[in-house]
Amino acid sequence: MVAQRTREVEISGIRRMFEAAPPNAINLGLGEPDFEPPAEVIRALCDAVRNGMNHYGPSAGLPALRAKVAERYQDRDPATSHDNVLITGSGSEGLLSVALALYDPGDEVLVPNPGFVLYAPHARLAGAVPIPYDLEEEHGFRPNLDQLESLVTSRTRVLVVNSPSNPTGGVFPKAVVDRLVDFAEEHDLTIVSDEVYEEMVYEGRFASFWGRSDRVVVVNSFSKILAMTGWRIGFLVAPRSLAVEINKIHYHVMACPSTPAQAAVLVGLTESSAAIRAMVREFRARRALITRGLNRVPGLACVPPAGAFYAFPRFHWPGSSQEVAMALLKRGLISTPGDAFGSLGAGHLRLSFAASRENLTRALAILREYARDVGSV
Ligand SMILES: Cc1ncc(COP(=O)(O)O)c(C=O)c1O
Repeated sequence: MVAQRTREVEISGIRRMFEAAPPNAINLGLGEPDFEPPAEVIRALCDAVRNGMNHYGPSAGLPALRAKVAERYQDRDPATSHDNVLITGSGSEGLLSVALALYDPGDEVLVPNPGFVLYAPHARLAGAVPIPYDLEEEHGFRPNLDQLESLVTSRTRVLVVNSPSNPTGGVFPKAVVDRLVDFAEEHDLTIVSDEVYEEMVYEGRFASFWGRSDRVVVVNSFSKILAMTGWRIGFLVAPRSLAVEINKIHYHVMACPSTPAQAAVLVGLTESSAAIRAMVREFRARRALITRGLNRVPGLACVPPAGAFYAFPRFHWPGSSQEVAMALLKRGLISTPGDAFGSLGAGHLRLSFAASRENLTRALAILREYARDVGSV
């Protein structure tokens, strides 16, 4: 018999669709670039493995990589040093370690709705209670401060934010970041800011939470930006004393992050900016292709995503998000039902545009056919 937490934990709606897919289906369901890691990064990984970097390393990560990451945050806070940085075994592991390090049983954690699939289950795994706050399309997928105020209780400990957002593509302008920081200070909350899509912004400017307050933990990842989702490597940035505490949990979750992957990422951070820029340029072109295409499908309406690499169209077709996503799956298109991200995702589909233009074009054809067959309302 398994523990109650195991019985209660949800299987991610993203994974469920993935596992039910027919062969050769077009996969716009998983959030991963169709790129390979930059050539110099692949070379560095092979060199590291050949040259004996196959052993345990420090649980906080290799000092040189921690220092390199810290350097990249010094424009946000010049005092950032390697002591603020932990290298993790992915953004997902970083989020779990942060949840286990920060949440006590009974604590309340404000999580976005719709929001990434791990925030609420991680809160529950730590015995805390996720309290969803709304990100409404009509309000540019930005939080409503009045609602946040109304959700705060004496048990609220943490505000989880994610900009650019998965699944909405929303990006918080600096003014919104400032207001959220003020809100957190006023109520003595820690902000956990998931910034894994920070480099993928197509409208406006990315505003990081780092450097705005001493109560911020940034969770980040190399998965998307270096196109290495399968390598499982990420990082987080936290106030020094908190980094020490989070590192205790991180050690018990995974002992240490992959040593050769860290050596390769260090090369990526030093040498791959042109490859990263080229990938983001391609995402920008695909974003234009898919949003234009979706808005021409009868029964679909898509706000162009300001960041990340997801279109999050609303549909006006019969059936729930699950039913529509299942019907599309049978026609060979894997999408993610919007309500996998929370109740406010109902009536939406999430489509990743980190897929080839050819696949995006074929996906649009499937959607047009589906719209014709169901007769949009
Ligand atoms: C918002 C967000 N945070 C974190 C992650 C975790 O990424 P990884 O575990 O690959 O670093 C993802 C992956 O899809 C994501 O979309």
